[in-house]
Order: sequence, then structure tokens, then C-alpha cells
Amino acid sequence: MTTTAPVLGGGPGAAGRASDAVLTIDHLTVVYEVDQPVTAVKDASLTLHRGEILGLAGESGCGKTTLAYAVNRLHRPPARIAAGSITFHDRGGQDVDVLALTDAQLRAFRWDKLSMVFQGAMNALNPVTTVRAQLRDTLLAHRPGMSRAAVRARSEEVLERVGVDPRRLGSYPHELSGGMRQRVMIAMAMLLEPQIMIMDEPTTALDVVVQREILREIVRLRDELDFAVVFITHDLPLLLEISDRIAVMLAGEIVELDTADRLYRAAQHPYTRRLLGSFPSLSGARGGFIRTGVDETSPAESTEAQA
Ligand SMILES: Nc1ncnc2c1ncn2[C@@H]1O[C@H](COP(=O)(O)OP(=O)(O)OP(=O)(O)O)[C@@H](O)[C@H]1O
Ligand SMILES: [Mg+2]
Repeated sequence: MTTTAPVLGGGPGAAGRASDAVLTIDHLTVVYEVDQPVTAVKDASLTLHRGEILGLAGESGCGKTTLAYAVNRLHRPPARIAAGSITFHDRGGQDVDVLALTDAQLRAFRWDKLSMVFQGAMNALNPVTTVRAQLRDTLLAHRPGMSRAAVRARSEEVLERVGVDPRRLGSYPHELSGGMRQRVMIAMAMLLEPQIMIMDEPTTALDVVVQREILREIVRLRDELDFAVVFITHDLPLLLEISDRIAVMLAGEIVELDTADRLYRAAQHPYTRRLLGSFPSLSGARGGFIRTGVDETSPAESTEAQA
């Protein structure tokens, strides 16, 4: 690679706290018990550090969503966790065995400690209630004592964070564009300031500018609030830009896990190298726009434009 390397991840949020884990996935195996059982996640282990952005990349069908669902305990038959453990390390120092939580404990855990933006998130909102009601219900389910004024203020605040006009609180999901619905889901995931946000292809319905605005906001919030993000996407160049570390999955296995910088410069696994090679943009200029707000890939400078 030449001097036109991308500005890589590794922002202040995760620096110097490598031992401070918020989630440990240990030898996790998830099987779909169908006629020909599919081992969608095979013996996967990873540690998510407090305040870090961990990218999860890999081709379609490699098991990314299955892994994310298992961490939330949202997997349903025929999916079954066949082996392994998932431990959440709460801010107060308490360890939570996620696979042992009761249904009531799970309901308290989700959104509050760990939230998820689902793949195809724009269809995940309840179609028959307004944005206001959905945000309010989630807030009150976890913070029953919250005043109406505080609920309203918080709902407006999260919408503003993701660039949705708070006047949209009165809207029903079908009255919003796909991109707006997706942003509302991201707002919902931020609502209770969880310690972990898992985002599964959260920005696919958004245009590039809006996508980058939202990612910048997520990076900024991470720096401010110190939550950890697992960011799942096919877009490896994007991951290189925003992630502190990147895990690469292939056929259910995590075949490589390293800092964005090392992964970019010295990928070990042949599949990672192939994946890197499949993005022409990675051999050209790529800016740290999301972190710095300065787009170094203006049309005049970009390799794409010169090509
Ligand atoms: N309900 C199911 N029954 C049987 N197999 C399933 C089921 N859901 C997923 N699988 C299989 O599990 C594997 C992993 O699927 P998963 O959705 O986790 O992949 P993914 O990495 O998220 O893919 P994508 O990038 O396309 O979203 C695939 O082989 C898929 O066919
Ligand atoms: Mg998926």
C-alpha cells in the first residue's frame, strides 16, 4: 500500500483501557436445528472493551446477525446456542451471565444495558403507534418514575441527536421515510444510554451524507458517554474508518480480530486480505471524515476521480 492510506480507527474512547471489558463472548456456538443443521456461529470468542467501536465484517451468510441475536438472547428456534457463554460486565463491577437471565431479567437488560439496531431496522418500529409513544413506552418501562416533562425532553433530545426534527414525535412510522425510520431506531437504541449498542447494518437505507453524519454522532457520543458499539456491515472501508478493532467472520468463525490499523496494514488471514482487496477505494485516499469532520476525499483529490 502507498502513502494514501486511510485514516484509521482508534479514537480516544478506547485508548488505554484494553483490560476494561464490557462483554465477553467465550467459545460460542449457535446451530440452526433444521434438516441439515447449520452451525452459523462456530466457537466464537471475543472481548468487547468499554467504549470501543468493534467492527464485525464478513460475507453474507457468515453468521454476523446470528451472533448479534445470540448476544441479545433474541434467537428463536430452530436457532439454539449449543455451546459457550456470554458475560456482560456491568459498570458497577457485577458480572451478568446473559445466557442465564430469566425473561423478566432479560426485559430489564435489553435497551437499558445493551441495545440493538436491527438489520432492516426501518421495519422494526411498531406501525400502529407514534414515535412519541414508542420512545415513551421504552423509557417508562425502564424508568417508571420518570416525569412526563423528562420523558418529553429525552425523546426530543435523542431525535435531535440523529437529525430527526422533534416535531416528528407525533408521526406514525409509515409517515416517515425509510431513512428517518432507521434514524428513529438508532435514537431508540441510544435512549437509555446503554453500555453496549449492537448495530446490524444500521445505515443501509441512508444516503452517504446522512450515514456519515449519523456515524459521526455515534463516534462523538461514544467519546462522550463511553458506551461500546458493535458495528456490523459489509462495508469494510467504513469499518476501517470508524472502528477501533475489527473482527472478520468467515463461515461462522471469527478468523481474524485486530486493531483497524493492523488489520489494514498487515492482515493475517487470506480471507481478510481478499476482503480488503475487493474494495478498490481502499487503495485510494480515504479520509477520517467521521472522526475529524474534514473530508479529505474531496472529488479533486480522490483516486476515484483521477481514475
Ligand atoms: N432460521 C434459519 N434457519 C436455518 N438457517 C438459518 C436461519 N437463519 C439463518 N440461517 C443460516 O445461518 C447462516 C448465518 O446467517 P446470518 O443471517 O447470521 O448471516 P449474516 O452474516 O448476518 O448475513 P448478511 O450479511 O446477509 O446479513 C446462513 O448460512 C443462513 O443461511
Ligand atoms: Mg445479517
